[in-house]
Amino acid sequence: MATRQIVKDTEDILRKKSRPVERIDDRVLALLDDMNETLTKADGAGLAAVQVGVLKRVVVIHVGEDELELINPRILSQSGEQETVEGCLSCPGKWGITKRPMKVKVEYLDRNGKKRTKTAEGLLAKAFCHEIDHLDGKLYYDESLVRFVTEEELEQLGS
Ligand code: NI
Repeated sequence: MATRQIVKDTEDILRKKSRPVERIDDRVLALLDDMNETLTKADGAGLAAVQVGVLKRVVVIHVGEDELELINPRILSQSGEQETVEGCLSCPGKWGITKRPMKVKVEYLDRNGKKRTKTAEGLLAKAFCHEIDHLDGKLYYDESLVRFVTEEELEQLGS
């Protein structure tokens, strides 16, 4: 395993659409391992493969007890609404309040190629939406942003 460099939002690759994984081979498994290590080191909630320069529909998410690896994830359904603070490892020092669904149901393949579904709420639902947006070349401040927040405001919000 190794950590990989996280791409910043000034780079064009983050605007590209990632391709579905057709075969879960050793390269995909190594990518997942490296992404987990990179995310742990960066102390973030989620990471999409494009953020380490790989245009594959692969995501890792670490939220609370959940450590998830998602291959070819897609949102099956969503409901409710939440307005919370959101940031991105590719956009250091930049934070915003976003509007996201409160609950989502996601379908994906795990590393063994088994199809799974997961229903998530709150923070985990936000992480799913954020990372799946990355796979389509979107950043959180494109469509979901309500407004950016300042550093002082962020402290007051306690996030
Ligand atoms: Ni991000």
